[in-house]
Amino acid sequence: MIDSLTGGHSLTKVLLTGGAGFIGSHTSLALLESGHQVVVMDDFSNGSAEALRRVAELTGLGPWRQDATDHWSASAPVGGSLTLIRGDVRSQQDLDRAFQDGNGGISAVLHFAGLKAVGESMAEPLRYWDVNVTGTVRLLEAMGRHGCQTLVFSSSATLYGTTDTVPIPETAPLQPINPYGYTKAAVERMLTDVASSAPGWRIALLRYFNPVGAHPSGRIGEDPSGRPNNLFPFLCQVAAGCRQQLEVFGGDWPTGDGTGVRDYLHVMDLAEGHGRALGLLQAEPPQLLTLNLGSGQGHSVLELLRTFETTNGLTLPYAVVERRPGDSAVSVADPSQAERRMGWRTRRSLADICRDGWAWQRANPQGYRSAGPQPAPELIGAQHGS
Ligand code: WQD
Repeated sequence: MIDSLTGGHSLTKVLLTGGAGFIGSHTSLALLESGHQVVVMDDFSNGSAEALRRVAELTGLGPWRQDATDHWSASAPVGGSLTLIRGDVRSQQDLDRAFQDGNGGISAVLHFAGLKAVGESMAEPLRYWDVNVTGTVRLLEAMGRHGCQTLVFSSSATLYGTTDTVPIPETAPLQPINPYGYTKAAVERMLTDVASSAPGWRIALLRYFNPVGAHPSGRIGEDPSGRPNNLFPFLCQVAAGCRQQLEVFGGDWPTGDGTGVRDYLHVMDLAEGHGRALGLLQAEPPQLLTLNLGSGQGHSVLELLRTFETTNGLTLPYAVVERRPGDSAVSVADPSQAERRMGWRTRRSLADICRDGWAWQRANPQGYRSAGPQPAPELIGAQHGS
């Protein structure tokens, strides 16, 4: 059992691949708040340097200082630091640069870099296999070159497919139903093989259910590009008037009100779960750990809609339409292992999710683009240099 976010372990320098994305930026903030030094490598294909500039602001770090092309950092007198490096997880050169950032010393990796849109994965399977699987091979090779054997992997409940098991334990069969899910299963298999191939590997596979919401400051949040595939960001955009109405995919599911039931967890609960998993890996002997990260509570589409309206004093237009292909009726976690092994459980309610998600959307109707034209990272470095 870990009795604190860091497990009482000495605070370390960690590398977050894809750390400028939704989950990555919130996890960067949680790790900085627990005293870690954070290095982020991101290609900005689905992440924003502005998100991390705001993370630096929220955690009291100084302004960005450009250290080299595509490499800049912010630091605090008490030792916390955030370094941002533009890089592609499939590039050995970029990965070596990330590990050698300044004076090196990366002791753990949290691997968020990957593509995650189910529909897109069916249209572009090769791209998904390349980024998600080949990217992880390159990362593991780089970890070997730099003597780092501690890894937290961003996995997904999508692995369980359309199971009828409610709630879903980690021992449920893995039956992915789309290329995105197959790549996650392949990476989990790869990491299992690596963990048993040599002593010393400390690996946590974290299977997220439905991460939603935003940091309560309203300064960072989910910023999907184009039309959101997922319910919560779409709902937020309807509330902001960016979308005309919510389409509820199916009203005839075998659930209480006929709409799909999911396990929504606040992104800050998820971020803190990463800190606990890291602390456990650092405090305990080498192991491979698989954990569901979810609330254990299911809520239907209409329940989420009503909670969003009640919490924020809004009335949102919606229409019940056909089911979405590939959907299941219910997907809810059994999160008891995460509580037992690392003392983690969700602490924030559905109302907290709706309040914080709306605070972000209302303050940033165009996401990070609301901050004005997105300057190239070099420019951000220049603007805040010295
Ligand atoms: C939630 C519910 C829809 C949109 C997906 C990925 C999964 C993971 C989380 C990465 C369902 C309904 C949705 C809309 C709707 N991502 N819905 N109208 O499908 O549970 O999981 O995101 O790991 O891999 O598959 O999330 O938000 O798309 O759907 O009615 O416009 O909302 O049918 O019941 P999902 P979702």
